[in-house]
Amino acid sequence: MSARPLLRMSDAANGILAAAGLVVVAALTATSFGAAARLALEGFLVGIWGFYVLQLTDTLMALGARDGRASVPEATIDLIAVIVPLVGFLFASTRDQSLYCGVWLLKPLRHSTFFRLLGRVVSRAAPNLIGVTSLFGIVLFGASLVAYLIERDIQPEKFGSIPQAMWWAVVTLSTTGYGDEIPQTLGGRVLAGLVMMSGIGIFALWAGILATGFFEEVRRQDFVRNWQLVAAVPLFEKLGSAAFVEIVRALRPRVVPAGAIICRKGEAGDQMFFIVEGRVSIATPSPTPIELGPGSFFGEMALITGEPRSATVSAATEVSLLSLYSEDFQMLSSSNPEIADVIRKTADERRGVAPRH
Ligand code: CMP
Repeated sequence: MSARPLLRMSDAANGILAAAGLVVVAALTATSFGAAARLALEGFLVGIWGFYVLQLTDTLMALGARDGRASVPEATIDLIAVIVPLVGFLFASTRDQSLYCGVWLLKPLRHSTFFRLLGRVVSRAAPNLIGVTSLFGIVLFGASLVAYLIERDIQPEKFGSIPQAMWWAVVTLSTTGYGDEIPQTLGGRVLAGLVMMSGIGIFALWAGILATGFFEEVRRQDFVRNWQLVAAVPLFEKLGSAAFVEIVRALRPRVVPAGAIICRKGEAGDQMFFIVEGRVSIATPSPTPIELGPGSFFGEMALITGEPRSATVSAATEVSLLSLYSEDFQMLSSSNPEIADVIRKTADERRGVAPRH
């Protein structure tokens, strides 16, 4: 029997297993256990290691099959998680053997979308991050040099060289302030104040660059995903590229579970919906409810007439929707009257009104 079902565990479960192993590694260094307890904990580590051997086999097989289930970085992490503890077991002293399992810290990275996102953010923001890091280096060196000049005669044991003063500058610039090196002169204290303020500014710049990078990356991903969803709606096929970009920005994706009510009869409606995948059921007065599927839209009547919702609409299956708010519908109407016309005509037909010409 293939071991794959066992190995198809979720990333969260994988992370919990690695965390449990690391807790045991830490516990083995912190407390003096009796021989039996120590053996049991080490046995637990061996169990995790055995599981990682199976996982590595699975990853390597998937990599060999090129079925897209495994990547080289993933396989590298799986290999390190097996090899390093094995090396520790074979060559390290008994006391240090379990420490080699510390490489399991890498395990949560193997599939993590967050770390991939972080990598993209850092590489895109690299020029600005390098700029701020250079500024950090300039302030650090400048502050160390001035502190050395001011304090060297009074505290030669702490500020007797630029490298010594640099430790003080790092601690001050990061506003950590261990208090092991304190300027004694007035000039030194004024300098310390300036360095602290520069530090706050530099860390704020780093945080700002990363926060903006994350925001832009998530927005870019949303845009690409929306693009694919909007392309699946036939009504938008005829749009020119500029109008398409406009509508991609305007539509908001939403997934509704089967059975959930999307809009209720009698409520005010400020948005309409396009179905990308799945089906919705519309409770009209007719004996059988009307079902709509991918490519259709609903909720347009309230948007056009300003009247309350004419029927309750619920998700017949899990349904992926794109919603268009009334202000964006106005924008679409003025830039693409043909699409707005199709929507208006459909609304008229559904209400049983003769289409306007
Ligand atoms: P609205 O009235 O905003 O909210 C309920 C929606 O159900 C309505 O817009 C239409 O999109 C849809 N709807 C109502 N009646 C019908 C019908 N007879 N056929 C198809 N769709 C309908």
